[in-house]
Amino acid sequence: MNTVEKYKEYVNTSFVKSVEPVVVASASGSKVTAEDGKVYTDLFGGISVVNAGHNNPEIIAAAKTQMDKLVHCCSYVYHVAPVADLAEKLAEVTPGRLQKTFFGNGGAEANEGAMRLAKQFTKKQEFIALQGSFHGRSLATLSITGNKDRKRGGGPYIPGIAFHPAAYCYRCPYSMNYPACDMHCAKMVEKTIQFDTSDNVAAFIAETIMGEGGIIMPPKEYFKEVKKVLDKHGILLFLDEVQCGFGRSGKLFAVEHYDVEPDIMTFAKGIAGGFPLSAFIARPEVADSFRPGDHLSTFGGNPVSCAAGLANINFMLREKISEKALAKGVKVLGELRELQKKQPLIGDVRGAGLMIGIELVSDKAKTPATAEAGKIRAMMRDKGFLIGVGGTYGNVLRWQPPLVVSSEELSAAVAALADCLKAL
Ligand SMILES: Cc1ncc(COP(=O)(O)O)c(C=O)c1O
Repeated sequence: MNTVEKYKEYVNTSFVKSVEPVVVASASGSKVTAEDGKVYTDLFGGISVVNAGHNNPEIIAAAKTQMDKLVHCCSYVYHVAPVADLAEKLAEVTPGRLQKTFFGNGGAEANEGAMRLAKQFTKKQEFIALQGSFHGRSLATLSITGNKDRKRGGGPYIPGIAFHPAAYCYRCPYSMNYPACDMHCAKMVEKTIQFDTSDNVAAFIAETIMGEGGIIMPPKEYFKEVKKVLDKHGILLFLDEVQCGFGRSGKLFAVEHYDVEPDIMTFAKGIAGGFPLSAFIARPEVADSFRPGDHLSTFGGNPVSCAAGLANINFMLREKISEKALAKGVKVLGELRELQKKQPLIGDVRGAGLMIGIELVSDKAKTPATAEAGKIRAMMRDKGFLIGVGGTYGNVLRWQPPLVVSSEELSAAVAALADCLKAL
């Protein structure tokens, strides 16, 4: 049996429409090589993970060095240097007073742990989350996920979650226009507290830039306005940067676009160059509200992953990966907007840095062009480009490449997309 046949027989994949028909053999930088020898330009990065490039040599070297010394001993039973070093670095590079980190293995684990911490600190039990959000596949994180297609069949979910309309300007839930709306959606958080909660809310949880929901970036005033309301009610601002963190949006953290200080932030995906690692960070007084017995993770803070994580940040800072991603993003967004003028199927082009969403619509009423998005993904693959598809309606092309991708590769992808749209 070959790999595809073994997948069919032995790997549980019934939860995805299909696994892409590519058997990945190796990868380097922005390129992925398949078993049949075909080389692809990767515009999806393993779902926005390998921000410093596939198999980044510095990250691999750091991991190998650590592997030769120690792979595991439980980083919460004993002290381990790479854990301490990465935590120190995160305190340095994250905004404001965020200082103490808990390490886990994946995004859902980070978010679920951070929810627990928010409850513990505030002694409150409710949460406000956003419509269209995605926060993970555990029961608590699905409970704060605002998308029925991810939740179907998994309930009952945990009580005490209120969903607030997101700042999805292309499909404004209040049928308003930015900036004339005066950040109405942010101000309406007050009403959600009033009408959908018992004012016992521990945290307002948001992806700083929504990923799975279709790359939705709130306007620059959004989080400041939200925070004004939260501060009145003693509600923590909890930002999920699992997908938009680590240079993805053209800043090391997407919150840097907004000039607010979150109380808790969560990370995974791009934190360690592809090694499994996640984290939540909080101010010391928030972090220290855990009491003995409240939390732990056997594999959390794996020394190899933490060594990779530190090498990842050092590489990103030294090579100015975020700044370069911002510039490459401005250029490719411009090229995509030019294409949009000629192609009515492209309803919206949005994002920041190399977190880019291209929303496809079949008419002026913005009917989601879901089938077309799937077809374009397949056509792009045939042309040698791997892209993602997402959004509440499955009609958003997601370009989230390794940030080391070149502007030339991105322009080639725009040209390929233009050909696909013509041929559709
Ligand atoms: C914003 C966000 N939060 C959490 C998660 C869950 O992460 P994981 O799949 O590592 O559990 C994801 C995954 O796509 C995500 O995009």
